[in-house]
Amino acid sequence: MNETDKAKKHVGEEAVLYVKNGMKVGLGSGSTVYWMIRKLGELVQQGLRIEGIPSSNQTAQWAKEFGVPLTDFSKVDKLDITIDGADEVDLNLNLIKGGGGALLREKVIANAAKELIIIADKSKFVTHLGKFPLPIEVLPFGWEVTAKQIGLLGCQPIIRKRDLETFVSDNGNYILDCSFEEINDPQKLHEQLIGIVGVVETGLFVDMANKVIVSNGSEIEVITS
Ligand code: A5P
Repeated sequence: MNETDKAKKHVGEEAVLYVKNGMKVGLGSGSTVYWMIRKLGELVQQGLRIEGIPSSNQTAQWAKEFGVPLTDFSKVDKLDITIDGADEVDLNLNLIKGGGGALLREKVIANAAKELIIIADKSKFVTHLGKFPLPIEVLPFGWEVTAKQIGLLGCQPIIRKRDLETFVSDNGNYILDCSFEEINDPQKLHEQLIGIVGVVETGLFVDMANKVIVSNGSEIEVITS
């Protein structure tokens, strides 16, 4: 296991310390979250009583595999905590998410939670968001027109592909990866983007994270907003 993978495991396993009996937990997506769900499964086997709401089909599958009970928003209207990864974290704990294509449901579970905890290896920390191409979920209908309008804001949107086919999110939408290089005002950019017809959601998570648990593979740091 390389240092990055060690760090992902480290923060994933650390995050479960914040999960208490009886909690409703938003389960994020991605390779860091994998370690969190695995650890949560161990705690459930030892008697922890919680229920999770997954942000992707992959996460739901891992939860089933590790024995983490699931529920949904027809039975729960507030989550106690959501734990998720990120592609970039800036100095104000604003985030870029959606590298795995799950940004829309991730934003729903982040928004529904009393507390959002982000788990990240050190490489995710940046001074300014934007080096990582911003994922934007768009409606398949007319995506070409939507992409042109997004491009006017200063990027060249690239339609995400997987195995040469257009990537389709769990919600049946497409993802445009938009390289802005440096995003100086994430809130303003999010508002401009979400105002474009055809944009379903952006991967900018502004002012949402309460805590970031970060590791370089050996030491853990917890940054609170
Ligand atoms: C999934 O859509 C993303 O938002 C992930 O949370 C993000 O890409 C981090 O993924 P890793 O933990 O795999 O780096």
